[in-house]
Amino acid sequence: MEGVIDAHTRDLLTRQPGFDWAVTEFVRVVDARLPPRVFLRHCPELDAGVATPSGIPVALQLLGSDPTALAANAEQALRLGAREIDLNFGCPAKLVNRHDGGASLLRDPRRVHAAVASVHSAVGSEIPVTAKIRLGFSHRRLALDCAKAAEDGGATQLVVHARTRDEGYRPPAHWEWIGRIRRHLRIPVVANGDIWSLEDYWKARTLSGCRDVMLGRGALADPWLAPRIRHWLLTGEPLPATPWQARAAILTEFAALQRITLPDRVVTSLVKQWLNHMRQQDAEAARRFQAVKRINDLETLLAGLSPQRMQRTCGSLEPA
Ligand SMILES: Cc1cc2nc3c(=O)[nH]c(=O)nc-3n(C[C@H](O)[C@H](O)[C@H](O)COP(=O)(O)O)c2cc1C
Repeated sequence: MEGVIDAHTRDLLTRQPGFDWAVTEFVRVVDARLPPRVFLRHCPELDAGVATPSGIPVALQLLGSDPTALAANAEQALRLGAREIDLNFGCPAKLVNRHDGGASLLRDPRRVHAAVASVHSAVGSEIPVTAKIRLGFSHRRLALDCAKAAEDGGATQLVVHARTRDEGYRPPAHWEWIGRIRRHLRIPVVANGDIWSLEDYWKARTLSGCRDVMLGRGALADPWLAPRIRHWLLTGEPLPATPWQARAAILTEFAALQRITLPDRVVTSLVKQWLNHMRQQDAEAARRFQAVKRINDLETLLAGLSPQRMQRTCGSLEPA
């Protein structure tokens, strides 16, 4: 997820069992072939077996509309070691759509087909090309055509975010629409959108009929969501709610990893950004966020996350 899930986040999220696959933030393709540093910035895992440190494979995501440029950049990614290319047809950002990228291609299934087919023929049949779509741009009438266009173009898997571009991130996600698509495709379809809990996972699976789901914001809000799902599938037992100590530990480790290359000022806002995602689903994270949101010093922020030091730093809060 652009600006949110980088290689360090992927590393931290995949340390527990639950994830089978991860995708980079999108690499924006306009017309030129991009230099290696751009790919390595988005996907440092290219230098480490194209997997997270715990061994979860990472697909490199491209976003663009020109089939020739997408193919040239897919070839470039391959030269650098990529083993899987994912194509983004879901991004709703106005700037991206104005420049004819992301979800804007869903207005014409032929363009989805051309993009996938061009990348598929450039990388060859040994390299999986996967695609990510929404249900459409401003309506759902072309949802199935776009999905079939991706499949006919050579996509080996399709992730469907169950909303149109115009629906943005507004609930609900229309998981039943993913089922309609799945029933018409031969390739695996993965359900995505608004899976925040085990209950959501089960509803999304039931309504879509998909075996696999993709987690976005839900995994940031609760980094133990994927392990929770995996544990329940294996044992039938739910895991207990994620305690604050575990959340604080992951945020602290995140800061330590980011600090290796980024200035404290940037790390401070990244930590707050992740805490902001956590607060959507957790009362303690919400209290901590309120207490630390105006802190601009990284050490003080980290102290504000720690259960023991919380009282001293922000006297009004109870320790967890
Ligand atoms: C801040 C942000 C950045 C995102 N960046 C990407 C991206 O780079 N590539 C992509 O395929 N989807 C991206 N998405 C979409 C998510 O992958 C996902 O499809 C969407 O958030 C719905 O799933 P969720 O409800 O589980 O988050 C992004 C979403 C958000 C909120």
